[in-house]
Amino acid sequence: MKIVCVGGGPAGLYFALLMKRADPAHDVRVIERYRPDDTFGWGVVFSDQTLQNLAAADPESHVEIRDAFEHWDDIEVHFRGQVVRSGGHGFCGIGRRRLLEILQRRCRALGVALEFEREVNDEADLGEVDLVVACDGIHSGLRRKYADVFKPEIEQRACRFIWLGTRKRFDAFTFLFAETAWGWFQVHAYQFDAETSTFIVETPEHVWRAAGLDAASPEESVRFCEGLFAEWLDGHALMRNERHPRGGQWITFQRVNNARWYHGNVVLMGDAAHTAHFSVGSGTKLAMEDAIGLAAALQQTTTVGDALRRYEDERRVEVLKIQNAARNSTEWFENVHRYVNLPPEQFAYSLLTRSQRLSHENLRVRDAAYVRGVEGWFAARAGEARPAVAPMFTPFTLRGLTLKNRVVVSPMAMYSAHEGVPGDFHLVHLGARAHGGAALVMTEMTCTSPDARITPACPGLWTDAQADAWRRICAYIHRESTAAIGVQLGHAGPKGSTQVGWAEIDAPLSEGNWPLLAPSAVAWSPRNATPREMTRADMERVRDDFVAATRRAAAAGFDWLELHAAHGYLLSAFLCPLTNRRADAWGGDVDGRCRFPLEVFEAMRAVWPADRPMSVRISAHDWALGGNTDADAVEIARRFKAAGCDLIDVSSGQTTQAARPVYGRMYQTPFADRIRNEVGIATMAVGAIFEPDHVNSIIAAGRADLCALARPHLADPFWTLHAAAQLGQDTHWPNQYLTGKAQLERNLRRGGPVETAG
Ligand SMILES: Cc1cc2nc3c(=O)[nH]c(=O)nc-3n(C[C@H](O)[C@H](O)[C@H](O)COP(=O)(O)OP(=O)(O)OC[C@H]3O[C@@H](n4cnc5c(N)ncnc54)[C@H](O)[C@@H]3O)c2cc1C
Ligand SMILES: Cc1cc2nc3c(=O)[nH]c(=O)nc-3n(C[C@H](O)[C@H](O)[C@H](O)COP(=O)(O)O)c2cc1C
Repeated sequence: MKIVCVGGGPAGLYFALLMKRADPAHDVRVIERYRPDDTFGWGVVFSDQTLQNLAAADPESHVEIRDAFEHWDDIEVHFRGQVVRSGGHGFCGIGRRRLLEILQRRCRALGVALEFEREVNDEADLGEVDLVVACDGIHSGLRRKYADVFKPEIEQRACRFIWLGTRKRFDAFTFLFAETAWGWFQVHAYQFDAETSTFIVETPEHVWRAAGLDAASPEESVRFCEGLFAEWLDGHALMRNERHPRGGQWITFQRVNNARWYHGNVVLMGDAAHTAHFSVGSGTKLAMEDAIGLAAALQQTTTVGDALRRYEDERRVEVLKIQNAARNSTEWFENVHRYVNLPPEQFAYSLLTRSQRLSHENLRVRDAAYVRGVEGWFAARAGEARPAVAPMFTPFTLRGLTLKNRVVVSPMAMYSAHEGVPGDFHLVHLGARAHGGAALVMTEMTCTSPDARITPACPGLWTDAQADAWRRICAYIHRESTAAIGVQLGHAGPKGSTQVGWAEIDAPLSEGNWPLLAPSAVAWSPRNATPREMTRADMERVRDDFVAATRRAAAAGFDWLELHAAHGYLLSAFLCPLTNRRADAWGGDVDGRCRFPLEVFEAMRAVWPADRPMSVRISAHDWALGGNTDADAVEIARRFKAAGCDLIDVSSGQTTQAARPVYGRMYQTPFADRIRNEVGIATMAVGAIFEPDHVNSIIAAGRADLCALARPHLADPFWTLHAAAQLGQDTHWPNQYLTGKAQLERNLRRGGPVETAG
């Protein structure tokens, strides 16, 4: 095969040598526009796992790379005069120039032709070749040439960074944070050879401009960084790469994706195909693993076309996983200002777990002493008297209510009430979950009037009979369990008068439909009735219904009250710009859209006992063009906080049929994190939180104060007690069930087959 790699970075060189290694008869050429040792940047890092992949692909270069490595285990976070160090992270650093030298030498030894100082902008200039690898980096010219096929998506991120070097040696992967009059700057620093460290300085674009760095020369920029980080440099200078055109410039990270990775015999590889923010240290790894992937695909298939298809299919999945983690990490560093009010211990933990891929238990495997320290620190702050309590089992107090742990049974419609009256099903369902260890059991959306219901089978609090039925349930839970019980009050608005969840969800009733209300006459879907735009009189009636239901809820004995303003129901429809099209005082900008929900909230708060907490559930993102985003959610949360709200329960979506949510583990938690740390209000995270490890990571990092789990509690009412047993955490079990606890704990300790008789 005749192969040309356009670009002599890690991707091109590694692919070339792998192909030549696989078959010396291949004619392989690498064409690089710069000289062999011109390179941008200083060091790169690999994880131990990446090294194993390189060992399997080409043992010869792996040995050289390994021997050139500086290896370290620890991460240090320097923040507000405190240093938090944790171990077991297993990284290696190597100079980029050194890496390229090793790969160039290995290419030459295998017979790859290396051609420098030649720029290729059109593969037609290369003559007859079987395969052209476009490994020409982040600004790939070949990608641009075939942009109509590759459809590159290039996202400009919010920070500026400058890639510098220093002779100061860091014995850990070091993160430094420095506050200036204009905002925060951070450094990612690590040693990559015996005498040099990489020193990347990063700050949001607006801070960079405010500091005047947009007008600074490269020398001035370096001096600025030296001054700012002088206390960590011990008199060492910062160095910029003068030989490279972009050395010493402040640049913006670009996230690159392509809809397709090949066209004819031209294939994208490395940064030309995709990028991952440097804070997850994966760009070179991905580039070299692409090379391994394509070389393997070419050996496993008979035609170049089949190989390219297989390469793209396999690599795309791997790349996406890293890019998802990198996105969270990028956003963390873009929003350092959000986290600077966290205590240093929690700030560092939040940084370590920022991608949501590295969890509490992963950290424990890496450094058990560090995690024990975090747990002890967190428990003491939470007022937990016992030592060594996992974050999820620490208490949490709001107003006069102390919850025994951080787990909440999320509100879940059960569609099992008659005339709005909860019955035996509700007693057993909610009672079982109260026995199951969660600190707070929430009712489903409970409606404030007959026409506020989602379905005819939804419960309510508009009659005394309903209040009496709820009183029985509250009394049971208070008498027989250590859980608290909360009620979620809501009005279905445009999503009312529909069938129960297991029939045709959101579809209108076959008969007996009632008229719908909404901020604007916008139907939920073409098959749902169009609601009537609410008049002021309607608003007053609905507000008063909420107040009456609140009084009944207080008298029934609920410990916690939540106002449902999410998921496209009435108050959510006011908040969402896609469903609130009013031109009067109750529509328009965020103040207008919040006006009615806030009026309802304030009226409820005024009659709800002062010692009992009140939360609001919102859809923090509409997942649709023109809808609310998490930035709007921050503004909404700010207003509810000012009105006396104690906690925002952060859900998302279900506000428009046009929504295209991006699901995944803990996918709504970043919104809870943002609201909590930007607004300074407690939050409850919800959505695809299903492992104790998720809860511990979220709580310890200060992303939320409580975690609500819905579906896991349908599958297992005892989710929390099982989690406690799994984590070896002693927690309260009902006396009646203590022998079950003993057996479960014994079985888990033994890790063997389950005991059948005790
Ligand atoms: C600040 C920073 C820190 C980073 N830190 C790390 C890290 O710690 N770990 C990590 O794994 N990755 C890191 N990366 C990412 C890493 O540098 C890239 O992901 C990696 O170099 C990609 O390899 P590549 O071969 O695809 O592209 P490149 O290394 O960019 O190589 C492309 C080559 O193509 C050449 N070229 C371009 N156009 C032409 C043309 N028309 N004709 C001929 N030649 C051409 C270029 O000169 C260049 O040499 C970092 C990146 C940055 C910016
Ligand atoms: C059967 C069912 C009914 C639900 N009913 C409600 C409800 O009444 N009020 C509400 O705010 N959310 C409701 N939800 C949403 C959940 O509270 C929760 O936000 C969502 O299921 C995501 O959490 P999970 O991934 O733990 O299931 C319901 C979810 C389910 C599965």
